[in-house]
Amino acid sequence: MSTTVLKGGRIIDQLGERSGDVVVDHESGVIVNVGPDLSGDTVIDISGCVVAPGFVDLHVHLRQPGNEAAETIETGSRAAARGGFTAVVAMPNTTPCMDSAAVINDVLAAGASALCEIKPSGSISVGREGHELSPMAELAALGVRMFTDDGSGVQDAQFMRRALEYAGSLYADDGVPFVLAQHCEVAALSAGGVMHEGEWSARLGLGGQPSEAEELMVMRDIALSRLTGVRVHFQHLSTAGSVAMVRAAKAGGLAVTAEATPHHFSLTDATCAGYDPIFKVHPPLRTASDVAAVKAGLADGTIDAIATDHAPHTPDSKELPFDQAPPGMLGLETALAVALDELDLPLADIIGLLSWRPAEIAGLAARHGRSIQDGNPANLCVIDPFVTWQVSGTDMASRARNTPFEGRTLTGRVRHTVFGGEVVVRDGEATR
Ligand code: DOR
Repeated sequence: MSTTVLKGGRIIDQLGERSGDVVVDHESGVIVNVGPDLSGDTVIDISGCVVAPGFVDLHVHLRQPGNEAAETIETGSRAAARGGFTAVVAMPNTTPCMDSAAVINDVLAAGASALCEIKPSGSISVGREGHELSPMAELAALGVRMFTDDGSGVQDAQFMRRALEYAGSLYADDGVPFVLAQHCEVAALSAGGVMHEGEWSARLGLGGQPSEAEELMVMRDIALSRLTGVRVHFQHLSTAGSVAMVRAAKAGGLAVTAEATPHHFSLTDATCAGYDPIFKVHPPLRTASDVAAVKAGLADGTIDAIATDHAPHTPDSKELPFDQAPPGMLGLETALAVALDELDLPLADIIGLLSWRPAEIAGLAARHGRSIQDGNPANLCVIDPFVTWQVSGTDMASRARNTPFEGRTLTGRVRHTVFGGEVVVRDGEATR
């Protein structure tokens, strides 16, 4: 045994809040003891801090294979671990895309030594082109549990229906369900748009993406979920109308789930006023009333999880003019603090949105987001809820720098992260 004791903190998990030391073992990767006055080979004083189940991000772009200048699985996993994440779901819009066993195997191999669990998603369609189903069963046999064409939405309703029916017929030996996740964007409506369509796009003379580009696909996929009886997960919801439709669908008994990003519940389209492409993202930053609706959706359970849509881009590409720069923002290292600063929710609720609730959706609940009890996997994070810090892209572990929160003073930060019983982040820095 090689044990570490997290000493003197408060425990917050799905069982509630209590005090107690937590002993983890690196060799077995499990929590070996929880209680008062415990000892271990290494002692980490966490007084004043909270120990929680590690976070799970349903939505990250790790850029490997294909754009390792922006991020790699290794650097992305460092950023994730520093943000308190012990597992992340890697989006498929790599080059080549994650539509084959060969690419999934490469991602899994690269992820084997990462600082958190790397769970690849698989694309719904070959090449994410929306015409031919990817070999879902083959990808599922390698452990893929989420399918998405993220980066774009599945445009053809009949194709989406067939994908749902096929996914609904798949069976995994471990009984973990599959989920089809949708980036809701009707391309014909968003075409030419580089920001939200509204007052600001008109003032700035930039092409806009109307809210309806997202909402029409949310509406369609709610209907398709009802038709097929297969669950749909809605990615990065950004409009008040989308939140309202998902709320109504859940009230009507449909098994849909949804996520929202920190940038969509903290920033508006007014940030684009200076034409700085750091604020360019898909779906775009919307209005203050959309931000309020996303927050309300997180508060009342309409939105199940906070997911970052961590989207690293090289500095060169983000220095292009607004209409030419790629969309996307970093998110892993600021997610907790932005949530703490922006959401008027109890800490336990915020931890749930970042941890056990996304773990369920991702099919990772056997290993992540588990309660802090003897014998459970030691995937944990330690949060200092009161520390104040200033965001700086150059201080991040990510290879990219494109944070929209540069210079912001935030309160609350991850101090330590434990993955498989190993302390992978200590005092904010990766240990290997
Ligand atoms: O802003 C975005 N960036 N939205 C997406 O859907 C894709 C992502 C990326 O890959 O950069």
